[in-house]
Amino acid sequence: MSYVLITGGAGFIGTNLAKRLAEEGHKVLVFDNLSRAGVEKNLFYLLNHHPGQVSFVQGDVRDMEQLQDAVEGATAIYHLAAQVAVTTSLEDPITDFEINARGTLNLLEAIRRRKLTDERSEKPFLLYTSTNKVLGGLEDVKLVERATRYEPAEENLGMLEGIGEDRSIEFCSPYGCSKGAADQYVLDYARNFNIPAVVFRMSCIYGPHQYGNEDQGWVAHFVRKAMARRTLSFYGDGKQVRDALFVEDLVEAFLMARQNSAKIRGHAFTIGGGPGNTTSLLELVSLLEKLQGVRLSIQYEKWRPSDQRYYVSNHGKFTRMTGWRPVTSLEQGIQSLEHWVRSLQNEKSRTQVVAEQEFGEFIL
Ligand SMILES: NC(=O)c1ccc[n+]([C@@H]2O[C@H](COP(=O)([O-])OP(=O)(O)OC[C@H]3O[C@@H](n4cnc5c(N)ncnc54)[C@H](O)[C@@H]3O)[C@@H](O)[C@H]2O)c1
Repeated sequence: MSYVLITGGAGFIGTNLAKRLAEEGHKVLVFDNLSRAGVEKNLFYLLNHHPGQVSFVQGDVRDMEQLQDAVEGATAIYHLAAQVAVTTSLEDPITDFEINARGTLNLLEAIRRRKLTDERSEKPFLLYTSTNKVLGGLEDVKLVERATRYEPAEENLGMLEGIGEDRSIEFCSPYGCSKGAADQYVLDYARNFNIPAVVFRMSCIYGPHQYGNEDQGWVAHFVRKAMARRTLSFYGDGKQVRDALFVEDLVEAFLMARQNSAKIRGHAFTIGGGPGNTTSLLELVSLLEKLQGVRLSIQYEKWRPSDQRYYVSNHGKFTRMTGWRPVTSLEQGIQSLEHWVRSLQNEKSRTQVVAEQEFGEFIL
């Protein structure tokens, strides 16, 4: 049987990708060790809504044999499984390395070792989800402080168009190092072993099925806390800027990458909402206050290590090569995320019961 393999497929981005592929009639194999709290609810959702289309293997990317089996029938592979939090990587860099760097090398080896047959004369397409944290702390970018955000100073106005692939890589935090090592291995295996692989260096992604917390997935975390009228914590002054990309736009980019794989294989791309979809933490809170008609309270904490003050992606290279561009505004995306949080509350299913047990403090 052939299928699209998604490692980390029960996670936030993986679930959105699996859903879209299943809706388009593809068979999907979700490979996940379910280590991220909350993702079992995503898996339950996928298996319930797409029976016969989505199958599941509880596997770990640190286990070479499990990966070899999963890769066997794959026509395309989206490699999303990862230890995803910078904070956790600072506490336990070895485990972070084992999952992100070694786990990716295991996957690449499994692909390299897969036997080619008459029907399968090509290696499967591979997309690896890297991060903006491979582009350093950007300390050299001079910034000015405005009322609600940092902005590039006059000598760095070019940065308003975002950071692109021409920026030299400089891994930032153990998470940046492990993801960055994997990013380079993927590009090297594309060169040396003829794997049609692509790397996406992504910044902030948000949307439904995101069980975000303080350490990763801050947009969803803020939305859920705001809906529960809880105090929001800012690490730093709240003026740090990110470009936010709605997950369905990202999924569209994933599919377009595969369609264009002959043209773009071996390339790395910076992918994000771009200059048209930037927000600071303070500005996001203002948007939430507007949408929900409330005043939210904020508590300020110390800056976290490796937190970039300003990061906006320039996705121009991918746009030029494929025609892709984000189409969902921040306001539309946030409304969709809020809608999903509400649907969690309304669903009278097992998913709901589990959600209430684990996320009770966020339920309205
Ligand atoms: N969400 C973002 O804003 C963002 C930004 C940049 C890069 N990324 C990258 O995108 C990918 C997906 O991120 P996400 O936001 O969906 O995260 P997520 O935590 O929701 O999903 C990751 C999934 O991987 C699984 N996993 C973790 N360790 C595993 C292991 N050893 N073996 C198998 N499965 C394992 C988890 O259970 C989870 O379901 C990650 O590689 C992440 O580094 C995400």
